[in-house]
Amino acid sequence: MIQLIRGFKDILPGEVEVWQHIESVARGLFEDFGFKEIRIPIMERTELFARSIGEDTDIVEKEMYTFPDRKGDLITLRPEATASICRSYIQHKMYAEDPVQKFYTIGPMFRRERPQKGRYRQFYQINAEIFGVASPLADVELIFLLKTLCERLSAGDVEAHINSLGCPECRPVFKTALQEYIASRTEALCSDCARRKDRNPLRVLDCKVPGCREAMQKAPSIIDHLCPACTQHFNTVQASLASLEVPFIVDKRLVRGLDYYTRTTFEIQTRSLGAQSAVAGGGRYDGLVKMLGGPDMPATGFAIGFDRLAEVVDLDKQAYIKKPDLALGIDGIQASMDFEGRSLKSQMKRAGRCGARYTLIVGEDERATGQAILRNMTTREQVSVPLAELVKNIKPLIKK
Ligand code: HAM
Repeated sequence: MIQLIRGFKDILPGEVEVWQHIESVARGLFEDFGFKEIRIPIMERTELFARSIGEDTDIVEKEMYTFPDRKGDLITLRPEATASICRSYIQHKMYAEDPVQKFYTIGPMFRRERPQKGRYRQFYQINAEIFGVASPLADVELIFLLKTLCERLSAGDVEAHINSLGCPECRPVFKTALQEYIASRTEALCSDCARRKDRNPLRVLDCKVPGCREAMQKAPSIIDHLCPACTQHFNTVQASLASLEVPFIVDKRLVRGLDYYTRTTFEIQTRSLGAQSAVAGGGRYDGLVKMLGGPDMPATGFAIGFDRLAEVVDLDKQAYIKKPDLALGIDGIQASMDFEGRSLKSQMKRAGRCGARYTLIVGEDERATGQAILRNMTTREQVSVPLAELVKNIKPLIKK
């Protein structure tokens, strides 16, 4: 038997209803906050992701599904959506009409990571991106939106972790301080970090290997190296979150696994998912649009891990599973019908199994008399209903 690919999964009926519910709550909220839906391709030129996410990141170095197409062009199954949304914003010159644009998109992403609970090779994200707003209040709006979504979905036990990664002015100063610190501990680093430490020392801060974590324990903090403008930006984020009563933790180790970030970065973390604690992650990426060939345009955004969110929401799954009201095809009533001409007994059994509340029996006798039998599957009570104007006659009888 052919099995699905490792790290991929089916989302089956029963689970799908929970996903539909999350999606509809998210869509409603995004629209209330003025975000418009955008749909971008599943594949892009490899170069787009390599340049945006960064050549020295785990995603680009080891996790992308990259292959030459039949003409030899290198293409990649998208590992994230931000790079594509920037490409689209630039390609369609959306900034010309109005630099401020707010987008959301929902769909699958692909990363060849080691599969475990909450970590898949095809996973789904809900993304939100705001272009053209330099104010820290845009970062705050995103974190507030995430908190509100978690509340609406009863995804309890989540907390916001925030940090600032500075800007092209102050980050090099921090990088130098970090490199000096790392130089005294190179023998403790894993081979990846030993290789990347000079070009991209921030990656060492993000490394999950225990030896590296240990070695970086006393590493300098970026927050102590921020320039006045970045400090002010970060202070406003914190003050505004506090005034909105959004609880947060300043987490100076939060550097994120993608290179495009500047200033505010954040994650929504939960304790209920074991090692994969981040339900959502994001931050500001003021340099990316320009780096990809667009105008100098600030931007900020996040992505929610849909699979992880679906695991932490506290929903009565049974309440979302749709069951037919009636085991027959009738307009305007959720119904299912037997097409196989089985015996009445086996049809009744199937109707019971599919969870129908009522069954309508229309046999030879009923057709002759013009009266069908409506059976309540719970109480087993039966009543006659005239076949003429059936829908009109049935609706009041099966009202919930
Ligand atoms: P990210 O932190 O790489 O950020 O991913 C965001 C979220 O996607 C994670 O917090 C996690 O919930 C989920 N996720 C990531 N990898 C997996 C996986 N293998 N299996 C299941 N869930 C996963 C980004 O992707 C950025 N593009 C976010 C962003 C948008 N930043 C600015 N705008």
